[in-house]
Formats: sequence, C-alpha cells, structure tokens
Amino acid sequence: MKRQVLTLAISATLALGASAATKTINVTLAPSDSAAVIAPEIYGQFTEHLGSCIYGGIWVGEDSPIPNTQGYRNDVLQAIRDLKVPVMRWPGGCFADEYHWEDGIGPKEERPRMINTNWGGTVEDNSFGTHEFLNLCEMLGVEPYISGNVGSGSVRELNEWVEYMTAPDGPQARRRMANGRKEPWHLKYLGIGNETWGCGGNMLPEYYADIYRQYATYCRNYPGNKLFKIASGSNGSDTNWTDVLMKKAHRHMDGISVHQYCVDNWNDKGQALEFTDDDYYWLMGKAYEMDGVLTDHSKVMDKYDPAKRVGLMVDEWGTWWNVEPGTNPGFLYQQNTLRDAMVAALTLNVFHNHADRVKMANIAQFANVLQAMLLTKDDKMVLTPTYYVFKSYIPHQGARHIPLTSDAPMLDVSKGRTVPEVSVTASEKDGVTTISLVNISLADKQTVNIDLAGIDASKVTGEIITASDVHAYNDFDRAEQVTLAPFKDAKIKKGVLTVEMPAHSIVTLSLTK
Ligand code: AHR
Repeated sequence: MKRQVLTLAISATLALGASAATKTINVTLAPSDSAAVIAPEIYGQFTEHLGSCIYGGIWVGEDSPIPNTQGYRNDVLQAIRDLKVPVMRWPGGCFADEYHWEDGIGPKEERPRMINTNWGGTVEDNSFGTHEFLNLCEMLGVEPYISGNVGSGSVRELNEWVEYMTAPDGPQARRRMANGRKEPWHLKYLGIGNETWGCGGNMLPEYYADIYRQYATYCRNYPGNKLFKIASGSNGSDTNWTDVLMKKAHRHMDGISVHQYCVDNWNDKGQALEFTDDDYYWLMGKAYEMDGVLTDHSKVMDKYDPAKRVGLMVDEWGTWWNVEPGTNPGFLYQQNTLRDAMVAALTLNVFHNHADRVKMANIAQFANVLQAMLLTKDDKMVLTPTYYVFKSYIPHQGARHIPLTSDAPMLDVSKGRTVPEVSVTASEKDGVTTISLVNISLADKQTVNIDLAGIDASKVTGEIITASDVHAYNDFDRAEQVTLAPFKDAKIKKGVLTVEMPAHSIVTLSLTK
C-alpha cells in the first residue's frame, strides 16, 4: 500500500522537490509544582505468547546453547535492565483469554499442551508459565502485570490464580510451595480480561461491565499484597465503551485500558521497510491521533471520576505492519525503522501531556512482535530504533512533567489529521531538567528556542537518534544504522536554550546548574 495523495502542507516542501530549509520554533516552559508526575509505568512493555516474543525472544530454556540464566537469554536480560523496564504485561493479548494458568505450573514434562489458536496455531507447551514470568520480573525489579482469562475462563479460575500467586498460606499457596516457591510473589497489576469487545469474548459493554464487577469481586487482596484492578477498555476512540464501564463499574476498578494501534487498512497494513514520504506523514498523523483519543476518554472519565483516581492504561499501542516476507503471518514479526522510532517518541510525548490520567502504557510488543524493542535470531540479538527512544527517555520516568507552549506549526497530513512539525516535552527530577524534541520534518532543519522560564541551568548535554535516511533500521550481522549518538548542537544563553535539529531526528537533553 503506497499513498499517492500529498497534502498541501507537505507537498510544498517535499514532493515538489523544494530545497530543505531551516525553520525556527519558539517554546516556553511553564514549570508547576502541581503538574503531574510521569508514571514510570508509561514506559511499560507487553509480552505475549505470540510468535517468538516469549519462546526464543526471552525464554530459551536452561538446556539451550544460547547463553542464558535459568532459561532466560542473557543478552535480553541485559537489554531489559538497561531499559529500566518498569512493568511487563503477560500472557496476552488475545492469548490471555484462552490461557489456563494451571497448565503452566508443576514439572515441565507434565504440563499439558494447547494450540495457540490466535497466533499461528502453534503448539504451546506451557514451559513458560506463572513461575517463569514472575521470577523474571522479580529478578529484574519489574512490576508484573497479569492479564486474567475472562473470555474462556471462570471466576473461580482467576480467583485461584490470584491466591496461588499472592497468598501466604492456604490451599493454592501450598500448591505453589510444592512447586518450589515458598513466599508469595508481589503482584500489583491485574487485568480482568483483554479486548472483551473482540477476541476476549465479543461482549457488549453493558454485559462486560457486570462480568467485570463479578470477577473483580473475587480477585482478593491477600495479606501484604494489594491489587490494582484494570478493566478491559475500548478499541481506540470508542468512548461509549468507556462511558458504560465508568458509569457501571468505576468504583470497582483502579484502571481502565485502551488499545490504539497505528493501522490504516487491516487488509494491507503496508511494510515496515517500504514507504513513501506520504506514508510517513500519514503515520505521524495517525500516531498523534493518540492525543485526541486520550483527551476524549479522559473527558468521559472526568464525568464519573473528577478526582482522577482511576487510571487510563494504554496497555497496547504501536505500529502494526504486514509481517516480513517469508515469515509466519500469525507471528506478527516486523522490522523497525527510524520511522517507528519517530512514532514512539511522538507518542511518549503525548503520554507526558496526559500524565494526570494516563498511568500506564505498554508498547506492543517487547521482542520479535510488532513494534519491538529487540529482534532475535538464534543466538543473535539486535536493538531496534524504538529501543533507543525508550532508552534516551529513561530520565522522564517518574519525573514531574513541565507544561509548555509552542508555536510549532501543525502539519495537515491526511484525512483531517494533523501533527506538530516539532514535538517537545519536558520534565524535572532531582534537579535535572530533561527535554526531548522530535523533528517530524523529512526535509527541514529546525532551530528551536526554548525559554526556560527561570529554570536555573547552565550546562546541557544531549543525545540524538537520527540517520541520513528515515528508512534506516538495524539488522543482524551488520553495524547498527540507528543508535544513540552524542548531541552537541544545544546551548544555553540568558535563560534560553537553543537547539539546532536535523530533519527527522529525536533529541534528548539534560540540563543542570
Ligand atoms: O498485540 C497483538 C494483539 O493485538 C493482542 O493479542 C490483542 O490484544 C490485540 O488485538
């Protein structure tokens, strides 16, 4: 799928071959003690039993020739640590609503097998189960986020899973102990169903709201553990779903999810590596649509929960392309270019602007599936451009958001969608101000002047993610094409930070006294 139609705003500078310009943009920071703190969980990951996300991507088993620690790939463990992953969602996705947790405990050779009907019809041997997931999280200091089976499970099954994982004593705790784990694990985040409007049961919101209340009732808080219960939320912009759920069940939930993928045509989603300039700009507009989606859901939530107690959890988001040629269509394996990195940065900036309501986000998915952080092939691993965005944004985790105003022009990209030509976000933690900038333009450099509004900073250091071609990507057996590089083109003078940005680039700056 290639887009032919160019919008006026873009065609003027690109399609007609006009030479690249340097534009100027002015930004003013407005620090406020009452601004929201950016939940670290916005930088969450999603790990589903899908393709080689779990098997091969994270888990290879203790007997594998691939270097591993207790069955987890060593290279991937290090990548997770380096990324300071705050939370991981598991076991799905659509898989979660066919997953029966008891199949994934006890001696591996006795674990029943099942067909992964959602994802390629492969045989799931259940060798990666509750212990393997929760031990991984514990080892790495990652919050686990369990997605419970509502679609084909039962209230009792989910009730007993929670007991197995978190009760200090009792029948399920004793089963856990018999399987080698004495102490309960810590479990905060529990999802009650996934996409219950679709693969999780094709329910209507009124029906699911009642089901949610029923299931949530029996997901108990055992001594020393308090669950944060998350209702299965809407498909993109469907605010009616949020309205019904909030009206009928908000007192029973701590969070409600929303899923928003960057897809235009589900029958032909386009290829990760092949795209025109128009495809690129369409995607930037689609990614920025997240802002409107969050605004609309937040408005609905404000009606029932003006104090913003209930979090909006974007527990699936990202780019979704046709699979790479020659790979299993059910495995959702795609490459990842600088274009995907631009989507990641733009979307994280949007999340920051909604930090008062958005309390978690989980990009789909961590390894080898959709907009992945990393790709693996046998014993090899590559880090994607998207990984480097998450890495450079680490200082924003848990930092206080700094509101700002900007005169960046809005590009009119397609079908009424717009996107700021330059997106800027800022935050502060422990005396360090972090500013990230995304220059969407494929052609133009930008001079960005940022009025620091009295922030006491004289030193600036930075990193940049860019490449000469926005199609650049990282692959096995060659040097990285897209990575983090030191950035020097920023200076502070008389309280104004001036940044000289190349086209299609992402810059993160650290400001100190
Ligand atoms: O991330 C892939 C799939 O997308 C998930 O399993 C499902 O929840 C969504 O439709």
